[in-house]
Amino acid sequence: MLHRSLILIALLVVCCQAWSPKTQLGHRNLHTTKLFRLGADPKAVPLATKSQAKGNGFGVVLAGAPASGKGTQCARIVKDFGVVHLSTGDLLRAAVKAETPLGLEAKDYMDSGKLVPDQLVIDLVAEKLKSPKCVAQGWLLDGFPRTAAQAEALAASGATADCFVLLEVPDDALIDRVVGRRLDPETGAIYHATYDPPPAEVAARCIQRSDDTEEKARVRLEQFHANVASISDFFSGVKTEIDGTQPKELVYKAVRKSLINAQDRRDGIVARPTEVIQGMKMGTSGLRKKVPVFSGNGGQYLKNFVQAIFNAIPPAQRVGGTLVIGGDGRFFNRKATQTIIRIAAANGVSNIWVGQGGLLSTPAVSAVVREREEGKAFGAIVLTASHNPGGPDGDFGIKYNTMDGAPAKESVTDAIYAATLLLKEVRMVEDGPPVDVDTVGATSVVGRTAVTVIDSVDDYADVLRGCFNFPRLKEFLAREDFSMVFDGMHGAGGPAAKRILVEELGAPEEALLNCDPLEDFGGGHPDPNLIYAGDLVARLGLDSSGNPTPAAEKAPDFGAAADGDADRNMILGKGFFVTPSDSVAVIAANAEAAIPQFKEGVEGLARSMPTSRALDVVADALDLACFETPTGWKYFGNLMDMEDGDYTPFICGEESFGTGASHLREKDGLWAVLAWLSVLAHANPDPNSPIVGVREIVETHWAKFGRHFYSRYDYEGVDSEAAEQVMEHLRTHFKALAANGAALL
Ligand code: AP5
Repeated sequence: MLHRSLILIALLVVCCQAWSPKTQLGHRNLHTTKLFRLGADPKAVPLATKSQAKGNGFGVVLAGAPASGKGTQCARIVKDFGVVHLSTGDLLRAAVKAETPLGLEAKDYMDSGKLVPDQLVIDLVAEKLKSPKCVAQGWLLDGFPRTAAQAEALAASGATADCFVLLEVPDDALIDRVVGRRLDPETGAIYHATYDPPPAEVAARCIQRSDDTEEKARVRLEQFHANVASISDFFSGVKTEIDGTQPKELVYKAVRKSLINAQDRRDGIVARPTEVIQGMKMGTSGLRKKVPVFSGNGGQYLKNFVQAIFNAIPPAQRVGGTLVIGGDGRFFNRKATQTIIRIAAANGVSNIWVGQGGLLSTPAVSAVVREREEGKAFGAIVLTASHNPGGPDGDFGIKYNTMDGAPAKESVTDAIYAATLLLKEVRMVEDGPPVDVDTVGATSVVGRTAVTVIDSVDDYADVLRGCFNFPRLKEFLAREDFSMVFDGMHGAGGPAAKRILVEELGAPEEALLNCDPLEDFGGGHPDPNLIYAGDLVARLGLDSSGNPTPAAEKAPDFGAAADGDADRNMILGKGFFVTPSDSVAVIAANAEAAIPQFKEGVEGLARSMPTSRALDVVADALDLACFETPTGWKYFGNLMDMEDGDYTPFICGEESFGTGASHLREKDGLWAVLAWLSVLAHANPDPNSPIVGVREIVETHWAKFGRHFYSRYDYEGVDSEAAEQVMEHLRTHFKALAANGAALL
């Protein structure tokens, strides 16, 4: 198998200024499951819970002979489905006890085991069904309707039952149950004197109902048999008969299944059997495959993986919750968005926020999850293959971000992988027109799920406004002797660059290159480096090795590029390339003075292992905590959110063109651009003095902190087996070197 993207970075680091690593370095245990508790059973298919009941109006009738077990099952149904339990027997007994006019009228009928006159019960139920709680949460009728007249009245009221469950138990068993039944008047719990005796601590207060004698039970049974057929006929389309002689747990299993089937029927949800597909293990940035893999066979690969994500998310988060969907706009993004919406709707998600056109940059996803409606979303499905090429034969990818807006931790991705291996079916709302994902503010309903289109930039722009001094940046960009170019590489960062750099900060439109998102990134490779951002690099007066060309003289003062999903960045000056390792070090060194986000100071710094130690030197000089982490942004997120450390405000970076801070839990390309503009603005307080450019800022930094030289080699299209052999060779030799006493930096 070939890796198209960078698979190996070799860094040979030589520090030209002697310094001792006093900073707080070292690998820590950076794994946490704090924000994502796993369900006990990753294959568990979603169940309705109380929270899902909001506005679902689910209607259930539970019927059966006296003592068939209706009350026993109702308690569990209410717990799992959140519907309002309406037991006409309980309501009538309460009326009798309170001696209301209804109670006084009903008493004699009940005592003799006969049915109370229809109209009394119909009025009672009609009133209850109208209550806002029943309308909002749905209802469970227990002991109603009991006659054809009652069934007709229910139909006439407009309250439609989605499910009619009939518990079947032979008469002899029923008599035995009636005579032995005991009730706890305080909790409503139902016991049986012989088969399910009440616990010792409540036994003394348990009572026997006045109609629980064999004689009265026989009268009640007669009434039941006289009416049951006519009632059942009313519900023939939604009826399930269940053997009520089974143990209670098995009865409930069958009841629950029929209720879930009823909900699915009502919401147009279809559960299609599927085969396990091997190899769906996520890497540090999610699951990446070629478009034809995801889209082939009716998109089955995509469907399986997305269903596995939902199976791994605890129902308490997912059911009734809010999910964010967005991606970098690459080929198959729009189709996949439609499919994911339908699977999410079938898995209990109540609200979906989808970025306009299915587009959300990766940092924008983090902003929406963390900030929109006070961080209401439980997570996000992000459709991106980052800086990999797009198009019909290009790459596609999916990752899951948790409720902190960060890429899922390993415990979560492991659970998702486990769920892919246990998958039996994919649940989906199959019918219905394509959802409008293009009109901001439009809300469509899929099954019972509201899908709202959100602006792709709003929440993200709010976060950036909180980090930087926009008026000061606007003033700086207005300088006639300053010019800049930003290359969006036709990725998801374009709309944010237009909004922020041009509309808000006043940069001229010509300052933007390739800022219209395209499904194939214009045929380019949306990786912001010296090779793939070639046009920008040439414009800034550089060759592909980062050396200045004659064009440097007339080049803009500042250049930057972001990748397909706009989380990576490259920073350039006039004829000058800033390595990612230097970039994060320069930002950190100037942060407190130049960037309002850090006006109270920076608390922690971190870099990935293959990033040079330029950042460590800054940490040492400023006496800040500094960490080296494995590659993967989640490790930085762990540090930002560590309970036993206070490293926020936090700045971090990776040699692989990733820079960011604790304002979000993803690396952030545009943030890095604004951070650099802030450093430039700070270095140029006097509008009448010549511009102090990127080169001068970096050279001043080197003079103060020392410079780290290294060579970087990016290998692409390498056979993974061969690559693994190279790594194994290196591991073996490093071990041998270490055994011989060599110190490895
Ligand atoms: P109502 O209270 O509705 O009585 P019912 O229909 O006779 O039903 P029960 O409450 O007796 O039994 P259940 O099916 O709930 O069984 P339970 O779970 O308790 O109505 C009472 C009276 O009100 C009527 O007679 C009538 O006068 C009047 N009325 C009510 N609604 C009316 C209407 N719509 N129109 C006119 N009049 C109306 O279980 C029973 C026992 O079995 C328990 O001991 C339990 O532990 C045990 N058990 C339960 N499940 C199992 C199992 N699977 N295996 C073994 N034991 C089990």
